[in-house]
Amino acid sequence: MGRLEGKVAWISGATSGIGEATARLFAHEGAKVALVGRRLSLSRHIAAELKAEGAEVLPIACDVSSERQVRESIQRTVKEFKRLDVVVNNAGMVHVKQLHQYTGKEWDHVMAVNVKSMFFAVKHAMRHLRRAGRGCIVNVGSISSFVGQALTPVYTTSKHAIVGLTKSIALDYAADGIRANCVCPGITDTPMLREHLNVLPDPEAALAGRLRRVPMGVVLTPHDVAKTILFLSCDDSSGITGASLIIDAGYLSAAEWETKNRTAFQV
Ligand SMILES: NC(=O)c1ccc[n+]([C@@H]2O[C@H](COP(=O)([O-])OP(=O)(O)OC[C@H]3O[C@@H](n4cnc5c(N)ncnc54)[C@H](O)[C@@H]3O)[C@@H](O)[C@H]2O)c1
Repeated sequence: MGRLEGKVAWISGATSGIGEATARLFAHEGAKVALVGRRLSLSRHIAAELKAEGAEVLPIACDVSSERQVRESIQRTVKEFKRLDVVVNNAGMVHVKQLHQYTGKEWDHVMAVNVKSMFFAVKHAMRHLRRAGRGCIVNVGSISSFVGQALTPVYTTSKHAIVGLTKSIALDYAADGIRANCVCPGITDTPMLREHLNVLPDPEAALAGRLRRVPMGVVLTPHDVAKTILFLSCDDSSGITGASLIIDAGYLSAAEWETKNRTAFQV
């Protein structure tokens, strides 16, 4: 018996990285999954693989910065699977530059994709989550929800906002049986990380340098983060709401740190 047997999940940004890993894990745990993302060919490909393994999944094209598209993607999910139990707001984007280099339009776009999208999803999923009886909302923040990082001012602003938004949702909908939590990943090996590193002269050296600040000394896999999202989406976390769970291999535990030798986590 999977931990999400009989449940229906809507996952944004499910076409790569953490969202894709979460969709795969949820399907293996028995959920019916709406794979929501901009790149339909990718979500169709992932859906075909999961269907071949016996899962029930639905690829849906959606730009999460559009309220209409988010609303329609939720309507399609409920039409197909007859209910909605879990919303994973995972889609996100980053620009790497200083604040004065942003246009107002770019600011609005990052905030729309990273935060406003969560408002749209919660707003349009709410009546279905209420009906499901024990709805779960998981928002994906970041270690940037707690500390600043160079050259990502709008991303950092958006990720800080997600922690506050999650707490508000947790308070306002607890009476309806709905829990809302936030997962805050550290350095995770996904296309977004690679995009971030690839603008630097030596990406591998830059990654190795960043990992020296990580006590476990490892880059997280998307599956590591997906397991935390699963925990907050099922009954294993039944007493948790309004929480922001950091999954960062120890990164935020120290103000200063240098991992000098190999750790037992580095295989
Ligand atoms: N990789 C990391 O180190 C790291 C660390 C902390 C937090 N995160 C967060 O994890 C989440 C997933 O990122 P990832 O690392 O898996 O990177 P990723 O680039 O693989 O995934 C981001 C996903 O969001 C989707 N997306 C972007 N804009 C969208 C839009 N307008 N509409 C619909 N989908 C859109 C992308 O297509 C992609 O599928 C993001 O919220 C990111 O901020 C990642």
